[in-house]
Amino acid sequence: MKELTVRVSRFDPAKDESAHLESYTVNINEGARVLNVLHVIHDSLDPSLSFRYSCASGQCGSCAVRVNGEPVLACMEEARDGITIEPINLPVKKDLVVDLLPTLEAIAFLQPIKDAKLPDKSTIDAIKPLKDCIECLACVSVCPAVAVTKFLGPTAMRQEMRLALDPRDSGDRITDAVRNGLFTCTTCQACWKVCPKEIEIPAKAIEKLRAHANRKGLTLPRHLEVAALIRETGRSVPRTGVTFFEQIGEVLEPYGPVKATVGFFIGCMYNMRQVQSALDAMEVLKRNGIRVIIPKEQVCCGSPLIRTGQLASVDSLKQRNIETFSSRKIDTVLTMCAGCGTTLKNDYKTPFKVIDINELLTQYGIEPPARLPIKATYHDPCHLMRGQSIRDQPRELIRQVVDLVEMPSICCGSGGGVRSGNPDEAAALGSRRGEEIKKTGAEIVITSCPFCEFHIAGHTDKPVKNIATVLLEGYKEKDRMKGTPQKQ
Ligand code: SF4
Ligand code: SF4
Ligand code: FES
Repeated sequence: MKELTVRVSRFDPAKDESAHLESYTVNINEGARVLNVLHVIHDSLDPSLSFRYSCASGQCGSCAVRVNGEPVLACMEEARDGITIEPINLPVKKDLVVDLLPTLEAIAFLQPIKDAKLPDKSTIDAIKPLKDCIECLACVSVCPAVAVTKFLGPTAMRQEMRLALDPRDSGDRITDAVRNGLFTCTTCQACWKVCPKEIEIPAKAIEKLRAHANRKGLTLPRHLEVAALIRETGRSVPRTGVTFFEQIGEVLEPYGPVKATVGFFIGCMYNMRQVQSALDAMEVLKRNGIRVIIPKEQVCCGSPLIRTGQLASVDSLKQRNIETFSSRKIDTVLTMCAGCGTTLKNDYKTPFKVIDINELLTQYGIEPPARLPIKATYHDPCHLMRGQSIRDQPRELIRQVVDLVEMPSICCGSGGGVRSGNPDEAAALGSRRGEEIKKTGAEIVITSCPFCEFHIAGHTDKPVKNIATVLLEGYKEKDRMKGTPQKQ
């Protein structure tokens, strides 16, 4: 047996204005689950505690709660001392019980076709990754699009795609999905990462439905414009000034001994719009012994097309990019755009290794910069934190220069074609991000994605800086303190 103290959110709409946390100490068996703790509290300390459960074995989905802010199944999550147990982020009926009904009622049913054929083996295989939903609604509770639009939510889209594949269904699933908010998804991947059944909704449902929508002529006009721009220029954003490529040679030698050589995949935003961040990154790499090869024939990675379901020219972009680096016998390609990095790692089959700049710098270690007397907060780019599981490395770098104050990791609204296709939604999510930044009291916001950098800058009065820029500022301060003439 072990003793645990946990905090549980309590809310009774009959007498409370808002929820509050109550602390309970219980004795429980080693390996007990959160659900066991709730039972002990209910049975021996407070019978008024309300929570849902049924199967107690991860099969029914009814026990979803948040533990330390993260949605989990109470019956599967090990109980630990000091945890905070709260309802998932849906309207609360009482304590840990939320109102599931409006969302569950909106999930489509199969509309049978008379004398329909049974699905064949390949159709069953395609349906499989989408069919294991236990309707816990953890995905819905974390979805940024649900929070600010009328989007029916990730599991409703999962079901639309599952039915779209089923020959026994007569519904027009693609049109329904578009009407119910298909293009409001930011592809942040939050739904996938919290799903107890690991259903990959962004890639297996959202992007597939968008590809079907494209074939039906339902792609948003702004997304069509982006595709046309890529066809015409090889880039997804228009030129606004001198590009990165126009300011830099093909090979950058480090100032000291060479620790590693990488090819650099720039990405459209850093080449055309957030140019200074990329230039700052090159200076940091030079200072840290990284030799950088920058082939100029590279083009857009195809992410804006893949995320919006416009797949016609994606293979040719992939082929060109792969050939560009392979022909130079480059075995490691560096990315600093979170969106390009996740695309090269997850949507390509590359003959070379792809590494994000935060991974590279922490792997080789960096020359210590001077510390700056600044309080900063860090915005986790969705396509870095969830797309590439890179969470600790940026923090390790940032803490070497400034004081870091954390804020919740939420989507800023710039991804998945939402900024171009649904600007009101992108603005609402940007404002939400701006509010969280304000609460931290930080003087600057640091991030590691050009889309986030650009979008968040429109929703906060604090400077938004790339990690590379902050590191470079640390180096410049170090040089200044030593009286060394500044490089660059
Ligand atoms: S990827 Fe993000 S925005 Fe899209 S459905 Fe999932 S949680 Fe919602
Ligand atoms: S898709 Fe996953 S997270 Fe969403 S309701 Fe189904 S099981 Fe729960
Ligand atoms: S009680 Fe059924 S999944 Fe937890």
